[in-house]
Amino acid sequence: MKGVAFDLDGVITDTAKFHFEAWSKLALEKFDLELPAEFESQLKGISRIESLERILAFGKLSGKYTPAQVAELADEKNTYYVAAISKLTQADILPGISQLLADLKAQQVKLSLASASKNAPMILEKLGLLTYFDAIVDPSKLKAGKPAPDIFIEAAKAVGLAPSECVGLEDASAGVAAIKAAGMVAVAIGDKEELAQADTVVSSTADLNYDLLVTSYQQAQG
Ligand code: G6P
Ligand code: MG
Repeated sequence: MKGVAFDLDGVITDTAKFHFEAWSKLALEKFDLELPAEFESQLKGISRIESLERILAFGKLSGKYTPAQVAELADEKNTYYVAAISKLTQADILPGISQLLADLKAQQVKLSLASASKNAPMILEKLGLLTYFDAIVDPSKLKAGKPAPDIFIEAAKAVGLAPSECVGLEDASAGVAAIKAAGMVAVAIGDKEELAQADTVVSSTADLNYDLLVTSYQQAQG
């Protein structure tokens, strides 16, 4: 295992609730639409514009807005989201993650970030974790989002490695699908059934550690 590619939201810090709150506010204000709670997990790993398209489809509003209006609505959601995450600090790092990053660094494992979020660099900065990462993939440069493999292929390439030399960490099923499609070993955090495609699933980030990643990598590579 020469590299680890991290998802951000739900792996390093828990921002899913802020995304959901921002989308809920926008949907209520602009479309008089109440989003069901399931949307919180359904939008994990899904890009900003695609999330909006799913919300519009749910409200039977697909095609009702011009691309410029869609972009404006997405910007508005982002304004709500950025306001909500402005107060993030080191205290918002999920359990086990700081230790894991420090141990991986000490073992000279290359670290890259494979997040669909355009806010990722700002969030890492607020958490005080920016300097751990050797590369951060820019999601706006990718052809296809998760579950397509592009972001994890890029995450390996950006640190000079092949996907087969890396472990990918994810909490979303679209993300696990992307890791596997890229040819990486997948370690997932969350529900065993929902994330069954992963090579290893743990229920909390507190269960993650350097040895677990190495063991998962070795077992998966046979
Ligand atoms: C992550 C989150 C998604 C979010 C996406 C884009 O993948 O899990 O819920 O839509 O990033 O985030 P952004 O900050 O660019 O709107
Ligand atoms: Mg995630």
